[in-house]
Amino acid sequence: MATIIGGIGSTHVPAIGKAIAEKKQNDPYWKPFFKGFDYVHYWLARTRPDVAVVFYNDHGLNFFLDKLPTFAIGAADEYRSEDEGWGIPVSRPIPGDAALSWHLINALVADEFDVTTCQDMLIDHAVTIPMALMWPGPVWPIKIVPVEINTVQHPLPTLQRSLRLGRSIGRAIESYEKDLRVVVIGTGGLSHQLDGTRAGFINKEFDLLCLDKIVGDPETLTRYSIHDWVQESGSQGVEFLNWMAMRGTLTGRVTELSRNYHIPISNTAAATVVYDNQKETARKAA
Ligand SMILES: [Fe+2]
Repeated sequence: MATIIGGIGSTHVPAIGKAIAEKKQNDPYWKPFFKGFDYVHYWLARTRPDVAVVFYNDHGLNFFLDKLPTFAIGAADEYRSEDEGWGIPVSRPIPGDAALSWHLINALVADEFDVTTCQDMLIDHAVTIPMALMWPGPVWPIKIVPVEINTVQHPLPTLQRSLRLGRSIGRAIESYEKDLRVVVIGTGGLSHQLDGTRAGFINKEFDLLCLDKIVGDPETLTRYSIHDWVQESGSQGVEFLNWMAMRGTLTGRVTELSRNYHIPISNTAAATVVYDNQKETARKAA
């Protein structure tokens, strides 16, 4: 049976892609951020996952405001990217695990999550930058199942809904008959606001509260409405929905193995975490 070995949270700011392309990992501005991935590289080399389920939000490459599903899941053998206009190189394609995707889709719909199914899906920097950060070599030794959450056009799903989506996917992964080692990734955040009179807003105190609570008590965070979240974390801080879904999949004893929090990367509070998922506790019902 498939096993969820743990979770990774990663910021996905486009400027990171440019820094990678220009080999600025050791520049004083970037080094405190990139150093946070040293442990990620060690942990991935040791745990060697076969598949990554990646919760992220599209920024207008595959979906636009005219048609924007709340939840969408890829079901392809390969995911391409394209020029998004950020000045970062177009990413190499990423192989998919379509069989696992369809297993998750069947389980989600049976669990009353009516997701949009995408057999052809472009993935943007919210997937490709975390991939380049986690596996900086010339080959990505892993397949992905991308799960897209609307964090762009209101109304957005609640934090509770996102956590429950993650729990449903976690149960589905663990019911998959193949002996796969699965890592679950949530990308985006933490606090940031790119528009309006609060452009540049960052809330370190709230970010640290989130990083503390999501490990052992994610339910506490579901008490915040989306509007509360925008107030506390900025209009783009709602990308934390992707982190909540990632956390929801981890149904064992979850411990934080690594955390790096750095302000700022571009206009964003950057965070990188690794969570271990030891199966031994009873799973909460979604
Ligand atoms: Fe984003």
